[in-house]
Amino acid sequence: MRPNRSIRFLGQFLRRPGAVGAIAPSSRHLARRMVDWVDWSRVETAVEYGPGTGAFTQEILARLPARATFIAFESNPALANLWQGRFPGREIHFGSATTVGSELIRRGRGHTDVVISGLPWASFPESLQREILAATVASLRPGGQFATFAYLQGLFLPGGIRFRRLLREYFADIETSAVTWLNLPPAIVYRCRGRGEPPE
Ligand SMILES: C[S@@+](CC[C@H](N)C(=O)[O-])C[C@H]1O[C@@H](n2cnc3c(N)ncnc32)[C@H](O)[C@@H]1O
Repeated sequence: MRPNRSIRFLGQFLRRPGAVGAIAPSSRHLARRMVDWVDWSRVETAVEYGPGTGAFTQEILARLPARATFIAFESNPALANLWQGRFPGREIHFGSATTVGSELIRRGRGHTDVVISGLPWASFPESLQREILAATVASLRPGGQFATFAYLQGLFLPGGIRFRRLLREYFADIETSAVTWLNLPPAIVYRCRGRGEPPE
C-alpha cells in the first residue's frame, strides 16, 4: 500500500468516520480472503461496494475474466476520484450501494454473479443495513456469491450484532472465515450465497 493512499484514506475517515468506518485500507491478506472463495471462472458480472482506495479491487481485477462487467459503488467523492485515478478505464458509480439494482438494469444486466462488499455495516443504522441487503439479494443471480467483512471489535457492538442477525435473515447459506490478524484492525469474512441453484 502506497503511504499516500493510506494518508488520504485516513483523512477521509477523520472527516466522515461513520461512513468510512476504518482508519486504514484493508490489507492484502484480508483482500485475498474476500475474493479467493469466489468461483471467478463463471463470473460475467461483478460488483464491489465501498472500494475506498481499491484494496479489494486490485484482487478482484486480477481474477476477473476479461469478458466480465465490473461496477464499483462508492459514495465518498474523494475516494471515488482516487480510485478512478488508480484504475483508469474501470467503472465506478459515484453513489450509494442502495442503487445497485437500478444501475445494473441501466447497463442491461439483470443480475450480478458476485458482490464484494467493503461497507462499514456496523456503523450503519438498521434501515440502511436492510436497504442494501435487500437490494443485494434482489440483484444476485440464484446461487450468486456475496462476501463482506467485519472487524473483530465491531462484532460485539449493537450494529455488528444486528448485522449478523440480518445476514441470517437475508441469506440461507453463510460461512464465517478464520480471523485475519494481519489487518488493521483484525477482521473476519462472511461468505454468503444467494438463494436458489447456481446456473449450469
Ligand atoms: C471500511 S471502508 C473500506 C474501503 C476498502 N474496501 C478497503 O477495504 O480498504 C468503507 C468504504 O465504504 C464506502 N461507503 C460507505 N457507505 C457507502 C454506501 N452506502 N455506498 C457505497 N459506498 C459506501 C466508504 O466511503 C468507504 O470507502
